[in-house]
Amino acid sequence: SVVFLLPVVLCAPSPQDRYDGHKVLEIFGKTEEDFRKLLELQLQFGLDMWKTPKHVNDSAHAMVAPEHLTNVLEQLNSLNLGVSTLIDDVQQLIHSSTKDNKKQARAIFPGGSGHDHGRYYRHQAILDFMTLVANDANKSPNVAATLETIGTSGQGRSLKLIKIFSTVNTGTPKRKIFIDGGIHAREWISPASVKYLIEQFAYNPGNIADIYTLLARYEIYLIPVMNPDGYEFSHTNTRMWRKNRRTNTGSTCIGVDLNRNFPYQWNPANGGSTNPCQDTYSGTGPASEVETQVLVNYLTGAGFDAYITIHSYGQYWLYPWGFTTALPADVADLHAAGQAGVDAIQDYGRLRYTLGSSTNVLYAAAGGSDDFAKGMAGVKYSYTLELRDNGRYGFLLPESEIIPACEELRAGFLAFANAMYNQQ
Ligand code: ARG
Ligand code: ZN
Repeated sequence: SVVFLLPVVLCAPSPQDRYDGHKVLEIFGKTEEDFRKLLELQLQFGLDMWKTPKHVNDSAHAMVAPEHLTNVLEQLNSLNLGVSTLIDDVQQLIHSSTKDNKKQARAIFPGGSGHDHGRYYRHQAILDFMTLVANDANKSPNVAATLETIGTSGQGRSLKLIKIFSTVNTGTPKRKIFIDGGIHAREWISPASVKYLIEQFAYNPGNIADIYTLLARYEIYLIPVMNPDGYEFSHTNTRMWRKNRRTNTGSTCIGVDLNRNFPYQWNPANGGSTNPCQDTYSGTGPASEVETQVLVNYLTGAGFDAYITIHSYGQYWLYPWGFTTALPADVADLHAAGQAGVDAIQDYGRLRYTLGSSTNVLYAAAGGSDDFAKGMAGVKYSYTLELRDNGRYGFLLPESEIIPACEELRAGFLAFANAMYNQQ
């Protein structure tokens, strides 16, 4: 018989994407027509929209490759659209935003884990940190932490969760809060901030009274990296990667946008895409992605009081719905508790967060994890937080801003949790 030798396709490691000469432009439109034109430009030149305009008279943030710059600027000019430069050279900023920490004092808390939170970490380092915290916390008399791998990513990375809770018996059963980060790969401040919260809750290095109160009332479940495959890829290859790393059948383009893939009101035509090459590709169907399924299974029927998913950027405190301009019946409760959060952020460091329903203050996008948590998993207080900044650095938030961003998140979260508790 004939022996067929199967051709071995050697997968050369894909080269690291570079962004030399890529600019991020802020583009101002006035009319619906302006934004329709902008959408055409996006498709024509493959612009990476870092920020989509939410209404007329709002601006877009678009990353433009150097080979298209002249054409894009010409077109914008002939369309009479205002334009200014937000980031002059993305590659330079990628370089400086991870190097500027060298000048910073190390962000290590006395009495804490010894881990430096003023830097961005790879996935494995984040998992190691969680193991360390769980071991430490279990030695302490008042706080305990348990680890659980709630599932595995498409490429086999573990989706690891830490539960932090007080061992002091208050006589009443604890309520439960779930916090996740890293659904979108390039939003590095998100896993960093969830990791920071883990440190704060487990060690409370600043002896913050509100943290003791929090743990007397709630068990906190945290998962810093929901999309580890995408997160790693954004470190090793393509800094601006957003989706997971699933192979799409019938397409050479990789990845699904997990925040368009959740099963409640899933609809690619509503702020997502049926095109696997788009950054907002919704997947082949509701919860087609394993990372989505893991979160869906974990939250369903688990009785969480709050679900908070951390993203960046734009400084928003968002509640459902993301699929419609309509508001949930109990919107007043969600708004009031969120208001406590954004007020505390402003008191802490003067930074303003915009509070509102995601469709109304941002844009409609169906299939988000927040809508799923509220609409299907029965979690009353469901929020998407978009952390710093406003576009000066966008996804490339310098390491020197990690701690300030985390501190104001802590202040906002604690005030929110307190307000939520007092509503019940
Ligand atoms: N920036 C986030 C995204 O585009 C916002 C999500 C808000 N929630 C929603 N269900 N649309 O995915
Ligand atoms: Zn995001």
